[in-house]
Amino acid sequence: MVFNTKKFIEREKERLRKKVGKEKAIVATSGGVDSTACAMLAHQVLGNKVKVVFIDDGLMRQDEGKSVKALLKKKGINLLILNKQKQFFSALKGLTDPEEKRKAFRDIFYKVLGKAIKDYKARFLIQGTIAADILETKKKIKTQHNVLSQIKINPARYGLEIIEPLKTIYKPQVRLAAKALGLPSQIYKRMPFPGPGLLCRVVDEVTPVRVKIVREATQIVEKYLKALKPFQAFAVLLNDKATGLSKGKRLFGNIIVIRSVESEDALKAKPTEIPYSVLNKIQKELTKTIPSVVKVLYDLTPKPPSTIEYI
Ligand code: XMP
Repeated sequence: MVFNTKKFIEREKERLRKKVGKEKAIVATSGGVDSTACAMLAHQVLGNKVKVVFIDDGLMRQDEGKSVKALLKKKGINLLILNKQKQFFSALKGLTDPEEKRKAFRDIFYKVLGKAIKDYKARFLIQGTIAADILETKKKIKTQHNVLSQIKINPARYGLEIIEPLKTIYKPQVRLAAKALGLPSQIYKRMPFPGPGLLCRVVDEVTPVRVKIVREATQIVEKYLKALKPFQAFAVLLNDKATGLSKGKRLFGNIIVIRSVESEDALKAKPTEIPYSVLNKIQKELTKTIPSVVKVLYDLTPKPPSTIEYI
């Protein structure tokens, strides 16, 4: 069936209008296409009855908050940035198991949001959950942090009621909706970025130092792969170490994986066929600008059997 973007938007706007009524709502955006489309939809329906917040969890890409704020400002949305980096890092301290890390992230995320909701006296939280998130959670591939009802978390425990306007559509339709809502191409063409952010790309413990490494590496990988327009491309920091040479000395240093995949909806994916010369440029810049990195690998695994992220 052909997706009718206009009809979809009208239907969801009407639902949102009815559901929220005279109450107030909050949208937490990460700057990704899903949550920003939600913010735009809510802003157009609810005006100043909705507050758009960006939780700075310390796990975002370089200057994410600032650039999202600037983009949304042009659309008349006043983004409130909540700096909660310390809280997230202390909740993640010592955790190495992927699902424990996700759970800790989810708990602190909802605690912070719950407080923002109380402060703003809002009753509703509008979330950018999409159909693929729900499908994968049901299949028990992983617990997505943003699919509360599917994983039997009672939102009331956090003092919220959740609205998920995009839960019936997949990424390509979300992009169409985001464009139709008037968002710029920097947003609607944007690569998917997971809710728990760089946590998904740091294997083992998530510390400010390790996140800084992966953030710098991500910037480099994105810079060189931008022209290839991959579905998703990023860097991963492994928990293994390897011996290498840094500034002329032996160093038992870090290993970075370059991950880049082509996909329609993230349910299946295959690795991008990156020219060797591009891989080599990435390798050179990674080892030059991040001295603790002594090995750079390219991940050749499709999904399945692999997943796109590492956690
Ligand atoms: P995987 O790694 O499961 O990822 O193949 C499939 C797609 O989902 C994104 N992803 C997430 N998105 N919260 C999100 O909002 C999460 O916890 C999460 N985990 C993975 C991933 O980036 C890819 O696009």
